[in-house]
Amino acid sequence: MPPMPASKEKTSISVFGLGYVGCVCCGCFAELGSRVIGFDTNTTKLDLINSGKATILEDKVDALIGKHVATGSLAATSDAQHAVWNTEVSILCVGTPSTEKGHLDLECIFDAAAMVGEALRQKDDFHTVAIRSTVLPGTNRKVTEIIEERSGKKSGVGFGVVSNPEFLREATAVDDFMHPAHIIIGDGCEQARQSLKAIYAGIDAPIREVSTEAAEILKYVNNAFHALKISFTNEVGRICKETGIDAREVMSLVVADKILNISPYYMKPGFAYGGSCLPKDLKALKTISHDNYVTTPIIDSIRYSNVSHIISGFRLVTGFKKKNVGIIGLSFKPGTDDLRNSPTVELVEKLSGKGYWINIFDRDVEFSALAGKNKEYIDSVLPHLSVMLNERLNDVVDQSEVIVVTKNEDGLSDLVSRHPEKVIVDLVGLAGIADHPNYHGICW
Ligand SMILES: NC(=O)c1ccc[n+]([C@@H]2O[C@H](COP(=O)([O-])OP(=O)(O)OC[C@H]3O[C@@H](n4cnc5c(N)ncnc54)[C@H](O)[C@@H]3O)[C@@H](O)[C@H]2O)c1
Repeated sequence: MPPMPASKEKTSISVFGLGYVGCVCCGCFAELGSRVIGFDTNTTKLDLINSGKATILEDKVDALIGKHVATGSLAATSDAQHAVWNTEVSILCVGTPSTEKGHLDLECIFDAAAMVGEALRQKDDFHTVAIRSTVLPGTNRKVTEIIEERSGKKSGVGFGVVSNPEFLREATAVDDFMHPAHIIIGDGCEQARQSLKAIYAGIDAPIREVSTEAAEILKYVNNAFHALKISFTNEVGRICKETGIDAREVMSLVVADKILNISPYYMKPGFAYGGSCLPKDLKALKTISHDNYVTTPIIDSIRYSNVSHIISGFRLVTGFKKKNVGIIGLSFKPGTDDLRNSPTVELVEKLSGKGYWINIFDRDVEFSALAGKNKEYIDSVLPHLSVMLNERLNDVVDQSEVIVVTKNEDGLSDLVSRHPEKVIVDLVGLAGIADHPNYHGICW
């Protein structure tokens, strides 16, 4: 195990909620050198902490709680005001369970915010509040409003609220806390961000200052991704078992590829996938599972997800109610003239089917050079492609009311900046055109 970071005296912290996350925070922040006061509405948890015991069964936490209660750097209180008045930062780690109907119950976090707000009414010094619980986007704003209302102070002046999600896993919580992939600090005022950075000094991990909403949604996205990975891997496992293949060997090869598989590749929000390989090979894997009576809902639904994305692109373009649409880039990716299963071809097909007038520029696609399966494909889905293709980027921009960008082109940003009245729909996330007044990204 890597060594614990060295400790030194620093910012005092109150931890609201002494469950899994709060108890680990108490032990770890004390270990990092802060003086910590724990607060919980459950008095049994307060008694446990004050007798030097963890409130949870978790490796290494008991030892940290015992050590720091003994030295006096950690104590628990039933008095929320005392906790706030005697610390510079309050970290909210209260529960955010699901209601019976499946909604998130944020009552505890709003109650904790109210308690902090009440206490701040009679505190002169600036106070930082960090939301460590997993909460829906928009919660930071609501917590800020509650504290403003209860304290009579202005956010950014008397106090600041930052979003600081926790990513620890039970059973390895202390190691996860001390050696995180990164520390996320979602917005808040400068003073609040600085005091939060100070309490993490000693942890060797990048601090990422991001928007509040990105910090709030991140934990949900991470956990959905983890659940997806587990379920996808188990679907592969079931297919492999039925076909006499060792899934452990297959998945160890999948994760060994750090270039295309375990990497940022294919993980940039943008337009739908396409081309001659992904759709075909996905179909083949689906067929193998079907033929072997293996149920694989995730693998089966990937294509539906992709089709929904093409439809959302179509709705974005048609939402402007302008009939002349220019398309920059038609093949499924830059540097190829392969039009087979290009999502842009599907988009063009839908638009022209609805009577839109389409003008296409793609420097990789020369109509007379299309041949073989590529030509057969395009003749079947876009028989009038030759009249839509235009060799000059300028002409396409000039003649279109809506310009849909699927590939970067030299000079494109200058060209569109001369036409502020045109609508720009960016399907790939290009640099240099986002400041256009009528710019719309597909996922941003
Ligand atoms: N358990 C995990 O592994 C984990 C990991 C990362 C994030 N989270 C998130 O962290 C949050 C806390 O999770 P947990 O597992 O520690 O929950 P938990 O249920 O173990 O603990 C929550 C604690 O909050 C206390 N509480 C409720 N209202 C309070 C109030 N107004 N003031 C003070 N204390 C109050 C409860 O008495 C309880 O002790 C949740 O949002 C959870 O989703 C949990």
